[in-house]
Amino acid sequence: MSGHASLQRPRVFVARAVFPDIVAQLEAVADVESNPDDAVCTPAQLRERLGDKQGAFITGSERIDRALLDACPELKVVSTMTVGVDHIDLAACVDHGVTVTHAPDVLTETTADFGFALLLAATRQISAAEHYLRDGRWTKWSVDLFAGADVHGTTLGIVGMGRIGQAIARRAVHGFGMRVLYHNRRPLSAEVERELHAEYRSLDDLLRQSRHVLLALPYSAQAHHLIGARELALMQPDATLVNIARGGVVDEIALAKALHDGRLGAAGLDVFEGEPRVDPALLAAPRTVLTPHIASSSVPTRRAMAQLAVDNLIAVLRGQPPLTPV
Ligand code: DGY
Repeated sequence: MSGHASLQRPRVFVARAVFPDIVAQLEAVADVESNPDDAVCTPAQLRERLGDKQGAFITGSERIDRALLDACPELKVVSTMTVGVDHIDLAACVDHGVTVTHAPDVLTETTADFGFALLLAATRQISAAEHYLRDGRWTKWSVDLFAGADVHGTTLGIVGMGRIGQAIARRAVHGFGMRVLYHNRRPLSAEVERELHAEYRSLDDLLRQSRHVLLALPYSAQAHHLIGARELALMQPDATLVNIARGGVVDEIALAKALHDGRLGAAGLDVFEGEPRVDPALLAAPRTVLTPHIASSSVPTRRAMAQLAVDNLIAVLRGQPPLTPV
């Protein structure tokens, strides 16, 4: 920081309860207001807490919009510990001269593991089978007990072939002998396609030709309800749909209806349009595994995400280039 501001320590708000040893690194260089009880701030509370701050450490739960930025004239940097930035109005940040940083790469493998776990859990009905056992309903081994589709050796369609999509493709090809189709805004280079053994398809062809479909694309206005009733009708009737992207990518009511009507094999969902609220239609849908947005939640990965967010924040507050700007 320069001039008058260099005499003062910058003020930072850490919006959620984060690993204390990582926040301590921030406290060494800034005056930190934290939120140890971990309550998610209302927009008004966020405006109040960020009103006199130069830096914000946020998660995906805090919405940074134009109204908030208007109320926070001193804000210089918003550092989110997520890779997704759909909770941040990037154009408004540009207009207000606010640097935005995020946390790519460090969560790729952990998130890919979880995507695969959801694919397996939903296709093989692991949650329903466990409830059946715990409810005392298991009285005998039966030939068709929870008999469903296979994962290995089938075709996986990946929508969104960024870092996480590619990490899932590697698991699918090398671990499960699958054929991988993908859809992306832009096809990958021929070299990367060869390395991944992945074939580009239009979205409709991917939905028709894949036994299972996994969504790993970033959310944007164009991706809103990308998978709706029409797209679900294109999918194979015993396909599994996995969503580790953002809830808004799927029309959840149409999905619940397809599951109820037996027009889709199963669904594994880690993200929801109105999360943490989950639509009752989805809660009631059969053959569905629902998890509370935890795909990146291993301790080493959550620590790495928080560390990268703090490193970004400190760099910008010191007037240095951020490590991973948006
Ligand atoms: C992200 O980083 O965007 C995830 O969705 C949060 O874990």
